[in-house]
Amino acid sequence: MLKYGIIGSGQMGSEHILSLRAIPGIEIVAIADPNEKSRELASLMLGPDNQTTFFDNHNDLLSSGLCDAVVIATPNMTHEHLVIEAMRQNIHILVEKPLSTTLKGCDNIIKETATSNSLVWVGMEYRFMPAISRLISMSQEGFAGDLHMISMQEHRFPFLDKVNNWNRFNENTGGTLVEKCCHFFDLMRLIAGCEAISVFASGGRDVNHLNESYSGMTPDILDNAFVVVNFEHSIRAMLDLCMFAEGSEDEHRVSVVGDRGKISISLPSNTISYGKRTEGRQGVVKEQLSSSDAKYVGFHHGSTYFEHLAFQRAILENERPKVSVEDGYKAVAIGIAAELSIKEGKPITLANLY
Ligand SMILES: NC(=O)c1ccc[n+]([C@@H]2O[C@H](COP(=O)([O-])OP(=O)(O)OC[C@H]3O[C@@H](n4cnc5c(N)ncnc54)[C@H](O)[C@@H]3O)[C@@H](O)[C@H]2O)c1
Repeated sequence: MLKYGIIGSGQMGSEHILSLRAIPGIEIVAIADPNEKSRELASLMLGPDNQTTFFDNHNDLLSSGLCDAVVIATPNMTHEHLVIEAMRQNIHILVEKPLSTTLKGCDNIIKETATSNSLVWVGMEYRFMPAISRLISMSQEGFAGDLHMISMQEHRFPFLDKVNNWNRFNENTGGTLVEKCCHFFDLMRLIAGCEAISVFASGGRDVNHLNESYSGMTPDILDNAFVVVNFEHSIRAMLDLCMFAEGSEDEHRVSVVGDRGKISISLPSNTISYGKRTEGRQGVVKEQLSSSDAKYVGFHHGSTYFEHLAFQRAILENERPKVSVEDGYKAVAIGIAAELSIKEGKPITLANLY
């Protein structure tokens, strides 16, 4: 039985709790959250007979000796400090994305791993969405041939309200292209199988949160952008993000095209289609997929559940994390480059940021 603690039991912490409860061999023994409502929510989800210890600050949980592993699901600007503190207690860690809001913060975490026995896993759960993981494996098996184009679209609703509205300001989140889009930059790297070289982006804050004010400050986060990422080996990738697209049939579309064929997925329709150039449009196969293998589906097509199965196995089998701190760093770097490209109106070479 592995003993888990949850640090931060807001919206995403709740999804972790419900996913973990569906996995045999895991017990949630502790929750830390300074917000009383979030602690109450966690208690409700754990049920009336829960034996969980509740803390109102993370230090008490980390020093309690209760936990083999923690899930860190707190606001982005707290991740660096919390991951380092948990590593110092040799506790295994699954930290929500982004690893940190700054490259310096990611670097500090990476440096700390040199002297810690903790397994540190970054919560890039989009890798574990059934449709996306099928696209990744077909692409890695060579269905589309040598890849040249990767395209990702997220057309969704605006950012939700969060505890203390931390997600309304770049200073707390790292910026929309770090906070939200590090998922897509991580997928681009994984699918391309190589590193990004440069980023060019155009984006704005045009529709959402314009009339909101917090202690006299107006939110400064982007709500739409196009981001072009040039990778090694003549692979180019593009992200089309719109956060005022509630009238969209699908929230996510991903497609990859190589010299032999194309693979595409759509979510939440949960479909995959693929075809070879030699067979033309008539040869395209379309399949309806299912997330029914997940014992808890949540808001992310079962990906949090599948992510936790893999994290649990990595702890028990002493494996390397499937999403490492280096992966977390690289995804944040592309997001930071994209934010900078918009500010400066020019392409950013990643080597200049590292
Ligand atoms: N993987 C995904 O798809 C996904 C989706 C949503 C959010 N997230 C990430 O999850 C994290 C949390 O986001 P959320 O949407 O749950 O926000 P939220 O505001 O709903 O919850 C955050 C919780 O953390 C608590 N908290 C703040 N500081 C703390 C501390 N030092 N110790 C313990 N608890 C603390 C807050 O009181 C709150 O209850 C963020 O990093 C976010 O980027 C990931």
